Formats: sequence, structure tokens, C-alpha cells
Amino acid sequence: MNARIDKLQRQSAQNDGVVCLAGGLPSALQFPRRLLASAFVRATADLRGAALQYGWPEGIDPLREWIAGSLNARGLRLSPDEVIVTSGAQQAIAIAVRLSLARGQRIGVDPESYPAALDLFRTRGVHAAAHGRVHAHYVMPQVTNPRGAEMAHARRTELLASGLPIIEDDAYAELRFDGPPAPPLAVEGRAQVWHVGTFSKTLCPGLRLGWLVPPPRQLQRALRYKHDLDLQSNGLAQAIVSEFLRHDDFDARLVRLRRFYRHRCARLMAAVRRHLPSWRFDEPVGGFSLWLETGEALDDTDFLAEAMRHGVSFDPGRMFRPNQAGRPLALRLCYSLETADRLDQGVARLARAWDAFARRAARLPDHAARGPRVVRRRVSPRVRALRARSRRGGAAVDPLGPTVGVQAARRGRRARVQRGSRRLR
Ligand SMILES: Cc1ncc(COP(=O)(O)O)c(C=O)c1O
Repeated sequence: MNARIDKLQRQSAQNDGVVCLAGGLPSALQFPRRLLASAFVRATADLRGAALQYGWPEGIDPLREWIAGSLNARGLRLSPDEVIVTSGAQQAIAIAVRLSLARGQRIGVDPESYPAALDLFRTRGVHAAAHGRVHAHYVMPQVTNPRGAEMAHARRTELLASGLPIIEDDAYAELRFDGPPAPPLAVEGRAQVWHVGTFSKTLCPGLRLGWLVPPPRQLQRALRYKHDLDLQSNGLAQAIVSEFLRHDDFDARLVRLRRFYRHRCARLMAAVRRHLPSWRFDEPVGGFSLWLETGEALDDTDFLAEAMRHGVSFDPGRMFRPNQAGRPLALRLCYSLETADRLDQGVARLARAWDAFARRAARLPDHAARGPRVVRRRVSPRVRALRARSRRGGAAVDPLGPTVGVQAARRGRRARVQRGSRRLR
């Protein structure tokens, strides 16, 4: 993770005054706190103390049975013995990468992909690429992060036909707005697919529980490597979740979650259309986020710093790109964490930040722009037009908003920045 982005996001997380459109966190309103508390009591009541004892690397049987059952309902034919309970989907991806790729090899990813997976590939010396020859693929067929898109049928067929290992990350699959997900790739490609899932999005991430279904021939290697990593996933968390699942109607929970996030997504899309009508995005089929493209050759991390001064945070586009390019400026906005009203407020702030940011980029002569991070080559025609007008000192027609005099805009920006910086302190 880029150190500057990390620092800005930590600042935003510590400040309740900042509307957080970053992070991809589930809504805390949906954590079943009371039910988990009683599951904890039941799990720890057992006199043998099984929930507090060492366990096996593959995880506890009732949980593996539940996971196998839910995948079998989607068309797989698994025995619980083929499921490994992992410390989140992240560990499942790490095991799959370790056992299917060597350093220096290439893994195929979408043009935008899940940042922590991209970071993991880098750490392992595996090159992520959206094009060209690769040795394996990492995909999210049901709901991608960050776009919230689904994989086209032709792409599924092409991937399976390649015969290459596929890491199938189904983290958001159950959160498709239109209902239960389609069969996973593992149904057709059991011998090549490493299927990954998680309780982080549908229950809560703090318990750190996910799963891996490796290709059958890789199961023993995967178990040995899992044992090397951490002996076993947290036994108490497994016991709590398994108790919870025994009493909860999980399907009804999923129906509620889909409705909840669909509503939030609609609010965020409406706010973007209202406040930032020139930004482009595709409507997601599910998940937690929108992927927005501005088309401007401006630096995404500089814009994050500006947004923070206005009291709103987001995830800069470079985090999602395999080559980490910060331009053209794109960003991920998450609708999962904040309330619907705060989403509106956050986008209104973002629009003011964008106004100030684009205006400054347009106004500054090339040599005076804010340091090397403001990218000035390949400036778009709209920004060039703004520059020309503001140099003439007349009224500038802001392609991103209403007609504003340049002097008034400067004064307004100063006031907004001051208000924003007070909020952040
Ligand atoms: C696509 C995707 N895969 C995996 C993960 C990691 O999930 P976990 O918390 O289960 O490790 C995330 C978390 O944001 C994600 O977005």
C-alpha cells in the first residue's frame, strides 16, 4: 500500500467528521451483535472447552459442513473434507498463490482489482497483468471489487478453457442485489479452480473467517501450508460462527443485506449524478462500491488530500490498477459504511473538493503546480479551456458545475479549505 495513501486514510478513519467513502467496510449496523454474544456464551459453555482448545488446520467440522452445504446449494458436489477454514479470504488467496505460482510468474487480473490481492502478488514476486500471457488467473466472477460488475459468460468459458489455475474470489457473491449467485467457476473447473469465500462481508470481518476449496489434487499441500502459517484458524471464532449459524436463518439475513446495500448503492449513485454529473460509472450488480472515472489526467492521491480537507475520503484509483497508475484520475466510492444521509453529504463535499482541485490545476501555470504529483501532461481539452479563460481573468464556465467568477472561486476555495481543515483537526 502506498505510504501517503495509507497515512491519509488512517487520518480519515480517526476523524468522525470525515465522511468515509473509502475502505470497503461492511455496515456496523448489520453486525448481529446480540446473536453473536449469545453464540459466544453457548460456545464457551462446553465443559471440555473445545472452543478454547487447539484444533486441526482444516477447521471445525460443523463449520466445514455448513460451508460445503452452501456451496453445494450453488451446484458444487463437495464433501466437507474438501473445505479448509481460513483466516479470512485473504489467507485463502495467499495459500492459493503460494501453491499455484512461482516467483517471477504472471497472474491475470481485471484492469481494476482488489488492492490487498495485488499487494500480495507483489510481495510474492508475482506480476499481476490485465493483458498478455499469464500462468494463472485471479478473478471475482460474481461481483468484482471495485466495479461491482459480473463476469461475462464468454470470459468464463475462455478462462475455463485455458486450463490454467484460477483463483476464484467469491467474497461478494452473496451480496448480489438480484438474489443468490450463479454457480461458481469451481462447478465446471473443479480441477483448476481454487475457490475462495468469506464471512467478512455477510457477517463481520473482525472474526477473520473465510474458506478455501483447493483443486482436489492440491488439498494435502494446502493443508500442510495452512499448518505452517498458523496451525489453525481462530478456534473460538469458528465455534461462535458455527453456533450462530445453527440458530440464525442465514438466507433471510442475506435477503435483508441485499436490500440494505442495494438501497445505499442507489443513494450514492443518485448523489453522484446530482453533484458530479460528468463522472462516469457503471451501475453495480452488487457489492459495496462504485468505480468512478473522471477522465482527467490529474493525480488521484493529491485529490484525496484535497478531499480530506473538505471532510470526505475515498480510495484512489491507483490502488486498484496492477501498474499502480494514478491517472487518468479514477476512484472507488464505498456506499457500505456510511448512512444514506452521510453518503449525500460526502458526495456534496467531494464535489466541492473537485471544484477546488480542478480549478487550481486549471489555474496554475505548469511550473507552479503543486509539486511533481500534479500531473500536467496530457491535460484534457476541458481543463485547457478553463486554464485559458482564467488566464484571461474573465468568468470561467466550470464544466463540473455552475458558472463562477474566478476571483469568487478563489475566495470560496480558501474558505472551504479552512472549514475543512478545522474539521480534520
Ligand atoms: C474481493 C475481496 N476479496 C477478499 C477480501 C478479504 O476478505 P477477508 O476479510 O475475508 O480476508 C476482500 C476484503 O475487502 C475483498 O474485497
